[in-house]
Amino acid sequence: MKKIQIAVDGPASSGKSTVAKIVARDLDLIYLDTGAMYRVATLVAMQEQTQDPQVIINFIEENPISFANGPKGQEVFLGERNVTDVIRTNEVTNAVSKISAMPEIRSFLVAEQQRIAKEGGIIMDGRDIGTVVLPNAELKIFLVASVEERAERRYKENRSKGIPTDLERLKSEIAARDHKDSTRKVSPLKQAEDAVLLDSTGKSIADVVAFIETRAKRLI
Ligand code: CDP
Ligand code: CDP
Repeated sequence: MKKIQIAVDGPASSGKSTVAKIVARDLDLIYLDTGAMYRVATLVAMQEQTQDPQVIINFIEENPISFANGPKGQEVFLGERNVTDVIRTNEVTNAVSKISAMPEIRSFLVAEQQRIAKEGGIIMDGRDIGTVVLPNAELKIFLVASVEERAERRYKENRSKGIPTDLERLKSEIAARDHKDSTRKVSPLKQAEDAVLLDSTGKSIADVVAFIETRAKRLI
């Protein structure tokens, strides 16, 4: 089987990581959650109480980010520490766009993402995968959904985990993050010219997976 690269970009909660994980399993590709890497950098900034990108980078160089498959799915590590849950807290979510707008942080993490992509067939999800990280990816998907539907998906997800959430607040936080991610100077969220636009509003996870896999299988 040919080892292909698939880039999945799109706004918050459009379903990128959910579908990318399934496609990775079905097509035997590496899955890389680049958002988790920006979340880890944000966690470091918070715990070290710094906004200096070089301090954040030095910390990550000493305590590298790694991924491993655990009982609940993919787990994220900072050095030896399992940070899977702590990088998903509201505090990190609401601070991440600021850290991910730092050019030094972006070039550091992009280099790492490109190194991992050399290891074999890969599906990566994020904001700048099709435009910057994997400009030559064989398949690029730009996955969107209405802000209302995305907020409702997160709301349901939080409720199923027992996390109290306010739907209206979630909607405004998602819209605010979309705005910051799309208007930043470095590598803003935007559809690559050769990306396929997929609007998942009203579509099931299975529908979205089938759409991507049909296109991917033509390339393998
Ligand atoms: O899962 P969710 O959509 O909430 O976000 P994520 O994919 O975990 O990404 C968290 C944040 O990291 C985004 O809001 C972006 O600010 C940043 N990010 C980025 O700038 N570039 C990427 N390739 C991936 C994420
Ligand atoms: O990675 P990203 O932030 O784009 O989204 P996600 O964390 O994969 O998905 C957000 C939520 O939407 C998850 O609870 C999914 O189960 C749900 N969902 C979806 O991903 N795709 C659909 N077509 C419908 C629901």
